[in-house]
Amino acid sequence: MKNIKSKRKDTQVIHAGTNPDKTYGSVAPPIYQTSTFKFDSAEQGAKRFLGEEPGYIYTRLGNPTTSTLQEAIATLENGTSALATASGMAAVSTIYMTFLEAGAHIIGSEAIYGPSRVVIENEFSRFGVEYDFIDTSDIEQVKKAVKPNTKLIFIETPANPTIKLTDIKACAEIAHNNGAVLAIDNTFMSPILQNPFDYDADIIMHSMTKYINGHTDVVGGILVFNNDELMQRTRKVLHNHGGTIDPSQAWLVLRGLRTLSLRVNKAQENAQVIANYLEQHPKVKWVRYPGLKSHPHHELAKQQMKGFGSMISFEVEGGIEGGKTVMNNVELATLAVSLGGFETLIQHPASMTHSSMNKQDRSNAGITDGLIRISIGCEDAQDLQDDLEQCLNKI
Ligand SMILES: Cc1ncc(COP(=O)(O)O)c(C=O)c1O
Repeated sequence: MKNIKSKRKDTQVIHAGTNPDKTYGSVAPPIYQTSTFKFDSAEQGAKRFLGEEPGYIYTRLGNPTTSTLQEAIATLENGTSALATASGMAAVSTIYMTFLEAGAHIIGSEAIYGPSRVVIENEFSRFGVEYDFIDTSDIEQVKKAVKPNTKLIFIETPANPTIKLTDIKACAEIAHNNGAVLAIDNTFMSPILQNPFDYDADIIMHSMTKYINGHTDVVGGILVFNNDELMQRTRKVLHNHGGTIDPSQAWLVLRGLRTLSLRVNKAQENAQVIANYLEQHPKVKWVRYPGLKSHPHHELAKQQMKGFGSMISFEVEGGIEGGKTVMNNVELATLAVSLGGFETLIQHPASMTHSSMNKQDRSNAGITDGLIRISIGCEDAQDLQDDLEQCLNKI
């Protein structure tokens, strides 16, 4: 479609990405389930390898189904290109491999998806990478953490699972004044609710396993760029290290993507109802949801987000035992990690998604033992509330 970039998100989500089928005019994009592509001649093969002729070579290096998905997400994020990966963590690791080296320093949000932090602390540190995971919601801490060798600032906002927000524009300014790159994990917001290029971020990352696919049946990730030089550097690393997505996986994500806007909007309507309900409940000690006035970053949320999303963290009376009572008694919500699916998922970060972090780091980051994270889905809000009510009554 012409001028898709000028359309609104609800239209882009349905139409972005060129259908590669020129033969039969199939409306749904075909799955090009092939590992390799035939050349017409030895000369053509050589030209493709030299980048002198467009066209596909080998699926690890590119595939038409994957290209459609990449084009769609790049459009939705107001970017110019994207690289789809086998998982969200493949995308995170690709950023780290591209922009870090021995002696380089990374600043990251302390409350972040557990493995995004642990892979630096346990693996990249073995290759001489230095790091500071800090509270990036406090911009003074970010300024203080910068060193001459800081190459990358990696933030997650809202952060997982504390739902703290970081000021993207302020971080971009700090990164750019120091010659560093700002990458942001935008998984919790999806391209519908937050577009970090509008706030000068350099790279946007999503675990497509979550909202973008939205059906709890695919693992995938993506990196989005609005700068060709950064994309080309990253592309070489991704293609050589091999964390590329498979075409059938890319196709499933494309199918899920088409309803992203509907799902995200319904889930966040529900989330506001549930957050309001939890906040007034006598068995609930505190609730963190950017759409609540009590959220410390509610004003920032209104500025840099287009909606408040559907991720809520809360703590109930009775600490971890109270939390277990809720998780063991849910009937409608599913006790499972992950998020951003059409259904409601509830989990306990300290023993599940963030168990790989050491206990002290967890506690410094505000990931208390009693914190419960809920990813609100697209069910009826009253039914979700009734489910939580029967659990809370058992505490
Ligand atoms: C915010 C966030 N970033 C990254 C990841 C990693 O994504 P994946 O599981 O697709 O590797 C997750 C997974 O839970 C996540 O929640």
